[in-house]
Amino acid sequence: MTTLVQVSELRKIYQTGSINFEALRGISLEIAAGDFVAVMGQSGSGKSTLLQIIGGLDQSTSGWVQVGEHRLDKMNQTDLAVFRRDQVGFVFQFFNLVENLNVQANVELPALLSRSKSRKEIRRRSTELLERLGIVNQAHKHPWELSGGQQQRVAIARAFINTPRLLLADEPTGNLDSASGNEVLDILSEFNRQGQTILMVTHSADAAARAGYVLFIRDGQLVDRMPGGDDKSIAQRLVELR
Ligand SMILES: Nc1ncnc2c1ncn2[C@@H]1O[C@H](COP(=O)(O)OP(=O)(O)OP(=O)(O)O)[C@@H](O)[C@H]1O
Ligand SMILES: [Mg+2]
Repeated sequence: MTTLVQVSELRKIYQTGSINFEALRGISLEIAAGDFVAVMGQSGSGKSTLLQIIGGLDQSTSGWVQVGEHRLDKMNQTDLAVFRRDQVGFVFQFFNLVENLNVQANVELPALLSRSKSRKEIRRRSTELLERLGIVNQAHKHPWELSGGQQQRVAIARAFINTPRLLLADEPTGNLDSASGNEVLDILSEFNRQGQTILMVTHSADAAARAGYVLFIRDGQLVDRMPGGDDKSIAQRLVELR
């Protein structure tokens, strides 16, 4: 087992005027390469904060995160931007696509910014991803011409274009009907079977059951961990931990 993500004693204090709020209160965890991990917990428990710090979108107040050989707290803003672009794929509840670019251009954008591949190679990879996600026939449409499920598949293709070591998904099915949500989960599971490491925040026990294991967060602390698989026992545990 190779450790991909290491989180040690992570704390995050948000300051709003003179008020301090401790959103993360000493979280430590390890994620092995190839794991599919779900994170659950009540609204406001700190799930997105945790994901954003692991992905280098935000910085902790204390404690540290290491992804592969990268110690995020030792990186400057430029290094962090490169880390986010090349090592991490992000999928959010609201798809965050660029409205004036078509589907294929949305998918290719992070690869063009990264400049590590030729345009031809990027086109080949984006086409392959669009095929794999069943939206290659939508390549020339713009985001507003797509259904929610299709838009999320575009966002997933974009997240994978730079072959990230870690996929971070924050409520990826939160804005989808259950059929589209299931399709998205099928896609994530399939990538995971092929070795992709995934950390996914979700409010849905059904979604969490797809993961190898589930972490439960309450008031900024890790309070429990259980195997995936059975959505009923996950839902039950969520109620118990309230
Ligand atoms: N930029 C910010 N400034 C101040 N407080 C913040 C900020 N972002 C988040 N918080 C607070 O930190 C806590 C954790 O927020 P976070 O977004 O991580 O919760 P969450 O578990 O993702 O909730 P949800 O399920 O509703 O998305 C909340 O109480 C929130 O109000
Ligand atoms: Mg959140």
